[in-house]
Amino acid sequence: MYVADDKRYDAMQYRRSGRSGIKLPAISLGLWHNFGGVDNFENSRAMLHRAFDLGITHFDLANNYGPPYGSAEETFGQILKKDFLPYRDELMISTKAGWDMWPGPYGNLGSRKNLLASLDQSLKRMGLAYVDIFYHHRPDPDTPMEESLGALDTAVRSGRALYAGISAYNAEQTSEAIKILRALGTPCLIHQPKYSMFVRDPEQGLLDVLEKEGVGSIVFSPLAQGLLSDRYLQGIPSDSRAARDFFLKKKDIGEGKLAKIRALNKIAGQRGQTLAEMAVAWVLRDPRVTSALVGTSKVSQVDDNVAALKNLKFSAEELRKIDGILAGTHSSQSAR
Ligand SMILES: NC(=O)c1ccc[n+]([C@@H]2O[C@H](COP(=O)([O-])OP(=O)(O)OC[C@H]3O[C@@H](n4cnc5c(N)ncnc54)[C@H](OP(=O)(O)O)[C@@H]3O)[C@@H](O)[C@H]2O)c1
Repeated sequence: MYVADDKRYDAMQYRRSGRSGIKLPAISLGLWHNFGGVDNFENSRAMLHRAFDLGITHFDLANNYGPPYGSAEETFGQILKKDFLPYRDELMISTKAGWDMWPGPYGNLGSRKNLLASLDQSLKRMGLAYVDIFYHHRPDPDTPMEESLGALDTAVRSGRALYAGISAYNAEQTSEAIKILRALGTPCLIHQPKYSMFVRDPEQGLLDVLEKEGVGSIVFSPLAQGLLSDRYLQGIPSDSRAARDFFLKKKDIGEGKLAKIRALNKIAGQRGQTLAEMAVAWVLRDPRVTSALVGTSKVSQVDDNVAALKNLKFSAEELRKIDGILAGTHSSQSAR
């Protein structure tokens, strides 16, 4: 029987999500990869145990995480039933709808029909009465925002979710969505954008909007799916995400990218961190980021990512060097 570590709250840092009542762990765990029906159940279970033992109280899912679609929620539901039910009130569990899930016109995007039916399916797969956060996974240009966000409001008012969130909305769409949700009486708790040293779009206005409106952010793929680690320095390991050549493509790990990764790895070493730790610390250097949403394939990666919290401070010189490496103006030779 799993018994959570009684020191689990000693070291983790918790940050307030915007101006809400909710604090999230600085590091959250996502179940996009490595928790599906095709994956090793005991490994998935061990990663969740380790995460919670280290104070990670937030697990992020979506309807179609797997493969096959839905199976990460099923795996999570089984582990929850075996191990985490006594801790349900210590956990923030999220799910999402808005990407393709089932065939036909109602299994995708942003209709009220899709969002509420999908949430009911998710609750059933996880064996939950409610999720803590229900997200619209991406904006749908063909559905009025009022309809998609109205469905989130219904999800909250009907008790199927405690909070509403949005993902992948750009700065302008986010501004509008926040207004609509506020008018409905279900304020937006959080936005989930992609953000890492390699993907810096949220710096172009989105983080400003979130700060102004008092909405939190949980940034996904802070390791750029594993590129921002020492994993690919000696080639593509057979057990890596890139080896599967689907979400992370082999062709995207060219010499130019590897040169940047090597130079960043050097800076991380000088800071006494692994590159993965530095990548997590780098997103958390911005106080507008509530939580870094990582994925892991092994228990040791959970430990490594949490170890990032030991050094979240960057000197102006380090940040300047990192920017130079990313812009291609600072080489690995000069990264000393
Ligand atoms: N809202 C959205 O549209 C959206 C989209 C994508 C993801 N997400 C969420 O964000 C979560 C995280 O995304 P992600 O998995 O792409 O995040 P990530 O943390 O950037 O990448 C995770 C991968 O990096 C590698 N890794 C992790 N820690 C490592 C370490 N310490 N050292 C070396 N390698 C390490 C592992 O790759 P290997 O498997 O190769 O070992 C792991 O699978 C997802 O699970 C999901 O919840 C949301």
